[in-house]
Amino acid sequence: MKLSGKSALVIGGSAGLGRACAEACAAEGASVMIADINQPAAEAALAAISAAGGTASFILTDGTDDAAVSASVNATVAQFGGLDILVNSIGGGRSAGDAGWHQAIDLFLKSSYYACKYAIAEMEKRGGGSVINIASIAGVTGSVATDVMTTGYACAKHGVVGLTRTLALAYAKKNIRVNVICPGYFKTEMTPMIHDKEDGGLSHINDNLRVPMGRWGEPHEIGTVAAFLASDESSFITGQPIVVDGGFMAR
Ligand SMILES: NC(=O)c1ccc[n+]([C@@H]2O[C@H](COP(=O)([O-])OP(=O)(O)OC[C@H]3O[C@@H](n4cnc5c(N)ncnc54)[C@H](O)[C@@H]3O)[C@@H](O)[C@H]2O)c1
Repeated sequence: MKLSGKSALVIGGSAGLGRACAEACAAEGASVMIADINQPAAEAALAAISAAGGTASFILTDGTDDAAVSASVNATVAQFGGLDILVNSIGGGRSAGDAGWHQAIDLFLKSSYYACKYAIAEMEKRGGGSVINIASIAGVTGSVATDVMTTGYACAKHGVVGLTRTLALAYAKKNIRVNVICPGYFKTEMTPMIHDKEDGGLSHINDNLRVPMGRWGEPHEIGTVAAFLASDESSFITGQPIVVDGGFMAR
């Protein structure tokens, strides 16, 4: 298995794309700590990982709280003996107006910064590691802003790409790789406005968004990329936004 003997912290790992990353890393042999605000969802994720023969644990963590993130890193190290892999996949955030702009920066950019800060310090002690941030296609292209929240989302996601590239340069010689996955459209709790329709949003995906593959992405299609980026199979890849979008950005 690609991640045998490794330890992973997945922030926002109770549901959606983060859960898929947690499952994929556990399936490849990593011991996984899920840090999230949603305990019931985490319990379902832990049960699925355990049923598949993997090892996982949970710590209640608000990823926007610097001290709580530090505690989740410490708990991972205490339980698994160190930290090799960090996945940042917090979702949510739908406040309107100025509050929504600031919420997007807190939820997506500041949380990633806090987690990188503490996790990378532990990876240095291990002599290496892999950070996988989850941004969005909104991190590599401007969004058609329909409201202030959309603007904040794109700004935060561009920030996550900048954070990724900068940390990749800073830690390249320390064997710590930092990459960012930029998903297109995936059916999760983040996207009900698109998929909460009679046809599951498929006509929107095809006719309005014109996703070339003509379908939603499946969360496991992010999980497998995260496991690859976490593993030595990607040993010369760092500082990269990896777009996973069924061809959307190729148009
Ligand atoms: N779903 C998509 O189509 C899509 C597309 C592009 C980018 N993304 C990005 O992927 C990431 C994950 O999104 P998702 O679709 O899996 O969302 P999701 O809502 O399905 O899951 C998000 C997870 O984050 C947790 N979370 C929310 N606030 C938190 C906090 N303060 N602290 C800790 N955990 C918290 C939730 O409890 C949940 O488990 C997000 O950063 C999102 O912007 C998603």
